Amino acid sequence: MTPKFKNPRAKHNFVGRTCSIAGIGSYVPEKILTNHDLEKMVETTDDWITTRTGIKQRRIAAKDEFTSDLAAKAAQRAMKMADITADKIDLIIVATITPDMPFPATACIVQHKIGAKRAAAFDLEAACSGFIYALEIGQQFIMSRTYDTVLVIGAEKLSAITDWTDRNTCVLFGDGAGAAILQNRESAHGLLTAVMGADGEKADLLFMPGGGSKCPATKDSVDARMHYLRMEGKETFKNAVQAMQSAATEVLKRCEIDISRIKCIIPHQANRRIIDAVGERLGAKPEQLFVNLDKYGNTSAASVAIALDEAVHSGRISRGDLILLVVFGAGLTWGAAVIEW
Ligand code: ACO
Repeated sequence: MTPKFKNPRAKHNFVGRTCSIAGIGSYVPEKILTNHDLEKMVETTDDWITTRTGIKQRRIAAKDEFTSDLAAKAAQRAMKMADITADKIDLIIVATITPDMPFPATACIVQHKIGAKRAAAFDLEAACSGFIYALEIGQQFIMSRTYDTVLVIGAEKLSAITDWTDRNTCVLFGDGAGAAILQNRESAHGLLTAVMGADGEKADLLFMPGGGSKCPATKDSVDARMHYLRMEGKETFKNAVQAMQSAATEVLKRCEIDISRIKCIIPHQANRRIIDAVGERLGAKPEQLFVNLDKYGNTSAASVAIALDEAVHSGRISRGDLILLVVFGAGLTWGAAVIEW
């Protein structure tokens, strides 16, 4: 199959296999928490949340439903679309900041839950940018012919690390998972290229202080609410707009295409105002942007995976369309990817 334009990976005599998304699936928990519900929990209003973020509701996992459960359900849907069974999977990568436990990797628990006995498995931590990081890493194994089938998942139970007494953050986040099966397929060109970046100097803009080697769990750490995420909203906002714009610009430049060629832009779903500002700076038309954060809020690593699944299954994307994914998260981290669907 001839791609619509030169694949940037073709330089340096690239002879790797192309990598397609053969299947995509997502899962969100049943329980819906609306802005009106939050009005009863903290001092906030539906109007404030809607106008400042665009979020109307989010999903909350049950007490006995963990990140690995959400991930496994999304994975099963992606496997169904790709028409493969679990024994075909060679590698599982789970991008998450809310693993079931600090170790073992949630990917190993997912491996067991879906019965992918042959698969190697590891977790990847790049916060909200995790799904693009995972796609790009998974793609290397397909391109290099190391593996034939890679399962990448973005999954989060952010409700477990959300401080439900802090109105600055608790209105923003939700739970969910999205998964993709990566394979070489004759009928689709697939992932064209991606850029990834990080800036650890700004690690303290968005972080969870407790639970790691720096501050293990103690009674004091629990009393000081150190096991919940903390965020400098305004600074994070500014950095998000700038980083997403520059990542998207760079990836389009590498593919030598203009934004007008992109059928659907799928940005990280953190804040409607961030999405609109990025779209405007890129010169995109509003109808090119895919937005579903009104329903789910910010689901971190799951965000663009859920959005891509909805865009595909609602008919917004057809075979051959060009898609731009662009993300930003704690770290700081960011990334952008162009896909020929
Ligand atoms: N309800 C009512 N008032 C609120 C609420 C709330 N839920 N939250 C904050 N406020 C108040 C603040 O206290 C402040 O009051 P003050 O002026 O009296 O001090 C006022 O509203 C304005 O607060 P700002 O912080 O200036 O509001 P802003 O317009 O910046 O919006 C927000 C805040 C929504 C958090 C925004 O900054 C944002 O979206 N930031 C980026 C988040 C993001 O992109 N995260 C991505 C990565 S996530 C990841 O990696 C896991």
